[in-house]
Amino acid sequence: MAGFFFSCSTPRPEIHRSKLPRMCRTLNAGVCLVAAVGLMFACTAAGQIANSAQAVDSSADSIAQGKRIYQSACVACHGSDGRGGEPSTTVFERPDSFPDFTRCDQTTAELDIAYKAVITNGGPYRGFAQIMPSFGEALSSQDIDKVISYLRSFCHGKGWPRGELNLPRALVTEKAYPEDEVVISTSANATDGPSVSGHVIHEQRFGVKNQIEVDVPLTFQDQNHIWYGGVGDTTLGIKRVMFSSLRSGSILSLQGSVLLPTGNRSRGFGSGTTTFETFAAFDQLLRSNTFIQTQLGADLPRHTQIAPQSIFFNTAFGQSFASDHGMGRLWSPMVEFIADRDLVDGAKTDWDILPQMQVTISHRQHIRGDLGVRVPMTNTAGRSIQLEFYLLWDWQDGKITEGW
Ligand code: HEC
Repeated sequence: MAGFFFSCSTPRPEIHRSKLPRMCRTLNAGVCLVAAVGLMFACTAAGQIANSAQAVDSSADSIAQGKRIYQSACVACHGSDGRGGEPSTTVFERPDSFPDFTRCDQTTAELDIAYKAVITNGGPYRGFAQIMPSFGEALSSQDIDKVISYLRSFCHGKGWPRGELNLPRALVTEKAYPEDEVVISTSANATDGPSVSGHVIHEQRFGVKNQIEVDVPLTFQDQNHIWYGGVGDTTLGIKRVMFSSLRSGSILSLQGSVLLPTGNRSRGFGSGTTTFETFAAFDQLLRSNTFIQTQLGADLPRHTQIAPQSIFFNTAFGQSFASDHGMGRLWSPMVEFIADRDLVDGAKTDWDILPQMQVTISHRQHIRGDLGVRVPMTNTAGRSIQLEFYLLWDWQDGKITEGW
């Protein structure tokens, strides 16, 4: 992709020089858009072939066999309707996290492999109650897949994006999946002037396909040997899933946000104007847990004389690995390519590369960390190498203290 952007720096002789910046700008944005859409279709097509084996087999036959297993091994505690057995006949006290398999909002975000981990190894394997027994000895791996496909049939709702499409969050590229999570991220200059900045991000789903986001940035800077700290421009955003398919492994979302000028402009913490941001995020899961996440968007400030309009294009390529047949700790090495360009004549595209590693910290995998190094590749003057880090808490999966 970098090649498209660089190509404009060597002017073709037949084009008059003064027309170049504008042409390049349009060309860059156009090429970027076409490339992104092309990538999307190519990925969806590849995913269609690759992913048919990704989720458990949900054929009528396998659901019927799963039902028989459920009725003999699970019904006493989970009830014939999947909401939990009669309290008078179940002897255990129900934990808060006791599942109601008819609640699509609770079940669709859970991965088949997460259910399999608990059914095979018992509750404590993922930090759940011991009352949930392990069935790894009593049932074969195929039987467990069948009982999971039966569990899935309790949710009758349509259009819920499946948790398998909730790919590991990259440091910069926003993902398409709507989330219930809190993220605390930090980046620190590794070169140039000392500066540490962070974000506190709260994301919350509503309805079948939507999510709101609040992002409060914080910056601490050494300006002439005095440290200044302050809040940056706060983002309020709404995301909506436009398309998602577990079969093809793809998900597409649109987000619209407002960045309020809450940051002090004279200290360099804020832009001093309200900015509208919009982006499309398209993520593709491929065979054996390889994935691509892409995000294409624009920042449109209200007062362009103090802050220029800009476009950005971020991609994250990654692969997840987990021990214990995919059920254990999840490691996700990723590399991001981050491009940003002001929409003014003569501006150049800033390209950064950001290799990183995300890892699940809690047994329940609802607390994760990610660490990377962001290296500017073009227009490097005044742009420092940065260490980037986040801690993420998927609060729908349990309290911070639970699931260890
Ligand atoms: C002795 C009672 C009991 C039996 C039998 C039982 N379960 Fe459970 N199961 C539980 C309890 C209690 C929990 C909740 C644990 C918690 O939230 O801490 C649970 C949790 C689960 C979860 C985890 C849901 C999540 O939030 O990730 C799954 C999946 C599950 N059970 C499936 C099954 C299946 C399938 C069977 C039969 C093969 C089965 N259970 C048999 C008691 C039981």
